[in-house]
Amino acid sequence: MTKIISYLMAGIFLLSISTFAENKYVGAKMCSMCHKGEKKGSQYEIWQKSKHAEAYKTLTGAKAAEIAKAKGLKKAANESPECLDCHVVKADAKIAADGVQCETCHGAGSAYKTMAIMKDKAKAVAAGLTEYKNDAAIEKECKSCHNEKSPTHKAFKFEEMWAKIKHSIPKG
Ligand code: HEC
Ligand code: HEC
Ligand code: HEC
Ligand code: HEC
Repeated sequence: MTKIISYLMAGIFLLSISTFAENKYVGAKMCSMCHKGEKKGSQYEIWQKSKHAEAYKTLTGAKAAEIAKAKGLKKAANESPECLDCHVVKADAKIAADGVQCETCHGAGSAYKTMAIMKDKAKAVAAGLTEYKNDAAIEKECKSCHNEKSPTHKAFKFEEMWAKIKHSIPKG
């Protein structure tokens, strides 16, 4: 009897660890439920019109095939980790088509996406939302992909590039 109970306890313990540690990617569509439209700041629309939303599609194109061939990759660009690393949200094939999406920069959203948690920044951060303390921290995140490891790298001008994709919540 005590044995059964201790197995049960171990099971519950493991279950709680795994649900805590493994935040899942939910995809940009999910975020759009609450983050689209002018009143909110059109985060979804701004992203959709940005190159980030095209980043996976780009890997299926002719220019990508050319680069992959020149590098001697064994697989197509859109199947090669050497390319996917910066062109899709990491580690989740199901939502690869979203390219560089909300959760690439904000963290996997399964645990913070509910209204009750989102409304409270401290709770959201505790549930996996990435916190950026200042512009330097934002720039560092950008440069994790916008760097010379990119086969098509151009010098990254932070202010200019951030202005192209910035998506603030309107004040007031
Ligand atoms: C159920 C609605 C809802 C969903 C779904 C949702 N959010 Fe939010 N989010 C909010 C609300 C409400 C706020 C608080 C600010 C506001 O009132 O607009 C917020 C705030 C934020 C903030 C700003 C945090 C801060 O205070 O600095 C970020 C970043 C964010 N959400 C990203 C996301 C991402 C990424 C997703 C998808 C994984 C997502 N949200 C899904 C409702 C939602
Ligand atoms: C996970 C990797 C990744 C991160 C992080 C990232 N980007 Fe990008 N970014 C890309 C890729 C890949 C493209 C090219 C997409 C395409 O053309 O298909 C791109 C394209 C862009 C473009 C369009 C190119 C142009 O010249 O207009 C802008 C602007 C941009 N990123 C800004 C930013 C900013 C600002 C940040 C940080 C807040 C950032 N990116 C973070 C991967 C990333
Ligand atoms: C270190 C991150 C990174 C890696 C790895 C990466 N890319 Fe990119 N890619 C980017 C960024 C950032 C851009 C946006 C423009 C720029 O700064 O190069 C981009 C843009 C592109 C573009 C559009 C460029 C244009 O001018 O139209 C193509 C095509 C491309 N990448 C193909 C590839 C292929 C193929 C691979 C794999 C061999 C790859 N990328 C690996 C980050 C990366
Ligand atoms: C390339 C990285 C990147 C992508 C992609 C991205 N964001 Fe952001 N987002 C940021 C950064 C950096 C900030 C500013 C720092 C912060 O508030 O966390 C920000 C701010 C926000 C804010 C708060 C704005 C404010 O005024 O406080 C919301 C809400 C948000 N993003 C939602 C989204 C949603 C929804 C998507 C996808 C549709 C998305 N973001 C895509 C990097 C990104």
